Amino acid sequence: MKIKRVCILGAGTLGTRVALQAALSGYQVAIFDINPKALENSQKLMQKIIKQLANNSGLEDVAGMHAIAAITFTDNPNVAIWDADLINESVTEDVEIKNAVWDQFGKIAPEKTIFTTNTSYLLPSMFAEISGRPEKFCALHFHDVFYSKVVDIMPHPGTDPSLIPILMEFGRSLEQVPVVVKKENHGYLFNSMLMAFIGAAGKLLTGEIGTVEDIDKSWMVNFHMPMGPFGILDSIGLDTAWHVTKNLPDAASQRFAALLKTYIDAGKLGEKTGEGFYKYPNPAYREDEFLQ
Ligand SMILES: NC(=O)c1ccc[n+]([C@@H]2O[C@H](COP(=O)([O-])OP(=O)(O)OC[C@H]3O[C@@H](n4cnc5c(N)ncnc54)[C@H](O)[C@@H]3O)[C@@H](O)[C@H]2O)c1
Repeated sequence: MKIKRVCILGAGTLGTRVALQAALSGYQVAIFDINPKALENSQKLMQKIIKQLANNSGLEDVAGMHAIAAITFTDNPNVAIWDADLINESVTEDVEIKNAVWDQFGKIAPEKTIFTTNTSYLLPSMFAEISGRPEKFCALHFHDVFYSKVVDIMPHPGTDPSLIPILMEFGRSLEQVPVVVKKENHGYLFNSMLMAFIGAAGKLLTGEIGTVEDIDKSWMVNFHMPMGPFGILDSIGLDTAWHVTKNLPDAASQRFAALLKTYIDAGKLGEKTGEGFYKYPNPAYREDEFLQ
């Protein structure tokens, strides 16, 4: 089947990026959120990303702005789903919220629509049944989209295998490198490794063994990386990280989840709110002196 129209559910950090990349790749795109403010912010974030891309790669600013102008930003589910060939769901990482969304869109989506979720740590089998079409349900998990260009394709046991090549082709058309996760796994491939790394950093911090800055510096210098685990957490969003960490049973994860919650309660969700472990738009780890 030929995918032409894409419906993105959730206009936050990831939904915005997937929607923008899909529009830049020539798809017709609608992005849906229950929060009108999120839709407004999504448009602003897209403009910011286009400006950054123009600075980095010389991409025509005008073409990018036209791509944004062609996107439908809506809080009306029927408008969002109209004629959609594929849904990529990027709503809050919460089982109840995702269940409600898949129940809602499973009932109103056209018969042809492929259902995909961008969940970071949950499993597609958790939502496949409630969507009403488990055979058309698969995880399609993006990373940063513009800088980390890997997309995980993870079927659940009931996914129709013919969906895999379609999703691989779709991923490639969005300039991503598709990788297939053969068995359902919390955290796919990369996030499984990332979770262990972030968890180790969290344990060093809550155990008062190192500061945020020193833990990040040690990683950045050793691996010549532009940011360390706490810079990465700020870019992921501390709320998203908390949703994952709070569900891990071990005591170290629970201590780290409790620390993340203090940031969330203070409105410090990371880069998206201007402050997390660092302050944005000019976090300390990007200053030349940071590694001196
Ligand atoms: N942030 C990342 O780096 C990242 C990377 C890969 C995947 N993901 C996954 O993408 C999903 C979204 O994460 P995010 O970081 O973009 O979160 P976010 O908090 O930035 O955005 C979530 C959006 O979902 C919206 N939402 C909540 N309930 C809704 C509903 N019922 N209908 C429609 N919209 C609703 C919220 O208003 C919000 O705008 C999560 O499943 C997360 O695990 C995130």
